[in-house]
Amino acid sequence: MKVLIIGSGAREHAMAWAVARSSKVSTVLVAPGNGGTATMGGKVRNVAVKATDIDALLDLVARESIGLTVVGPEQPLEAGVVNRFREVGLKVVGPTAEAARLETSKVFAKEFMKRHDIPTASYEVFRDHASARAWLESCDSFPQVIKASGLCAGKGVVVAMSREEALGAIHEFFESRIFGEAADEVVIESFLAGQEASVFALTDGRDYRLFLSAQDHKRIGEGDTGKNTGGMGAYAPTPLVTPEVMQRVEEEVIRPTLAGMKADGYSYTGFLYVGLMIDSGVPSVVEFNARLGDPETQVVLPMLRSDLFDALLASVDGGLDAVPFEMHDGAAATVVMASAGYPDAYETGKAITIDPAVNDLEGVLVFHAGTQREGDALLTSGGRVLSVSARAGSLKEALDRAYRGVAAIGFEGAYYRRDIGAKAL
Ligand code: AMP
Ligand code: GLY
Repeated sequence: MKVLIIGSGAREHAMAWAVARSSKVSTVLVAPGNGGTATMGGKVRNVAVKATDIDALLDLVARESIGLTVVGPEQPLEAGVVNRFREVGLKVVGPTAEAARLETSKVFAKEFMKRHDIPTASYEVFRDHASARAWLESCDSFPQVIKASGLCAGKGVVVAMSREEALGAIHEFFESRIFGEAADEVVIESFLAGQEASVFALTDGRDYRLFLSAQDHKRIGEGDTGKNTGGMGAYAPTPLVTPEVMQRVEEEVIRPTLAGMKADGYSYTGFLYVGLMIDSGVPSVVEFNARLGDPETQVVLPMLRSDLFDALLASVDGGLDAVPFEMHDGAAATVVMASAGYPDAYETGKAITIDPAVNDLEGVLVFHAGTQREGDALLTSGGRVLSVSARAGSLKEALDRAYRGVAAIGFEGAYYRRDIGAKAL
């Protein structure tokens, strides 16, 4: 079967790598892909179609007789790519635009969790500046967490340590309009203490299968300092998600979410990303995403021993509960190499050199994010440039391997955190 992956990050490179390993897959197209998916060779090639151009994606699928499409990022989900594909009888992995509101509308997600008794921070919703300001003026417990309801590329959340900071945030949201319409509705929620971890499920709306738990490193600086980024590294599994915690997440979050979405008329299908805060073994939902995480995908897919394609197809055709879904022993880690200046302004077009010896490093996988081929050259084209993953028998060895991979790669101004996974060792 021919498979189409929509997206252009390291997540989509990892998906293409995992799907191409299946003997049942003849070709993997990535739209639009990146410099890494352009040069994987074998079954994988890029097609120059934008991830949000649904008409062009539908044309591509018809022209190439694609049997299964997998949606990587959230923007095409919000634009209704799954709805449009299903309307014409195409097989696609992802939730409809209505179901994807678990990610694309924080107001929807909070109201849903409240209605279905799913553990999450208490909250208020505001639709204008004056009422949010009045509420903050009379609130005397800080920190409070201020969130733009819509999609903001991971930047629409402010953990306000003081009233002053909170008032500044709502001014930027409602008056400066830094996020435009995405901040027409604003959630203010109570601060959750604890440690963050992510759990990922693949679901057909009724049954689900779980990948390993993972931990992202969202801040740019070592020791979790500085600005939030798209994610600077990850490892899986995380010791924070003990078997007991995972059982609670299944019972208190995943099952009620799937049942609740179905009961509310928006059956949820595809990947469900549960972002958790875990405090003394008690999990609460920080956020839902309607897709796999980046960089977490670059560790959870290398840990999947069974055939990803079989599971993806079963999530559309049925039989997900019967398909093999087994993990490797040991652990995986990924280290993100970013452009100098990221997450603020950065330059692109820097030449990347990758020592071919990297291919001989055991267990190492170099997934590309912001890279672009130009003739024979590989150039940087984004903030997060590469995600260097490795799998091994232990987390320590996986981290050592990933950092050996990083050492074999260079570009001007390359920045990476040296403490990925350190807290778990
Ligand atoms: P979100 O986009 O909702 O995942 O929020 C981004 C980041 O803000 C999360 O990864 C957390 O680090 C932090 N955060 C969000 N909500 C809360 C909360 N209620 N309490 C503490 N930290 C939070
Ligand atoms: N790793 C965070 C995200 O994918 O949203």
